Amino acid sequence: MRFDRVKYEASYGTSQQLPKSDAVEIAFAGRSNVGKSSMLNKVLNRKNLARVSSVPGKTVTVNFFDCDGVKLVDLPGYGYAKVNFNEKKRWADLMEGYFNSGRNIRLVVQLTDMRHPVTKDDLDMMRFMKAAGFDFIVVMTKSDKLNKTERTKRLEAIKEELAEFGDIEAIPFSSQNGEGADKIREIIEKYGTAE
Ligand code: GTP
Ligand code: MG
Repeated sequence: MRFDRVKYEASYGTSQQLPKSDAVEIAFAGRSNVGKSSMLNKVLNRKNLARVSSVPGKTVTVNFFDCDGVKLVDLPGYGYAKVNFNEKKRWADLMEGYFNSGRNIRLVVQLTDMRHPVTKDDLDMMRFMKAAGFDFIVVMTKSDKLNKTERTKRLEAIKEELAEFGDIEAIPFSSQNGEGADKIREIIEKYGTAE
């Protein structure tokens, strides 16, 4: 897979706008501000492909990128408290529309902030994916912000937090120093190009 062949395709703010799925898709999910857009930029080695912001709730659209024929999908973040009811409803409609439109979703990359325990919203997302039969992996973002002791602690604790999902791997990742980026590329390649 040629990761340099990536281009932004389009963003959609409502489920009605979502185009029919015509390719293999890998989606990126996680709460607002967890680092989804930063991760896409790092993994794809492009500074401003996906928009990064210090203001949570920035990505309120489903954003499609085409990477050598595989669609990478930046999903809108959840769990931002200041978002009003209408925005929450829009988020839910959009996610439901995305996951229930018969797309060829090969994998969901679920991001969670490595500094903190997995949130209730993260668990809800993963329970939904498990129930709906989507394959997913967990990526722990912002690993550069932890010292060695904290890191060891979190790597242990997350096993318990995710015990209900069986033997699931949680990959430490940093868009600052690139930890985990090679691994994510391998996973994208594996799922994106599998028959
Ligand atoms: P929404 O689009 O709002 O859902 O957010 P997002 O998940 O796309 O997060 P985004 O990539 O915009 O990053 C949010 C903030 O976290 C920005 O200030 C980033 O610079 C910072 N950030 C993201 N990833 C990392 C990381 O690995 N390490 C550090 N130190 N900061 C990060
Ligand atoms: Mg974003």
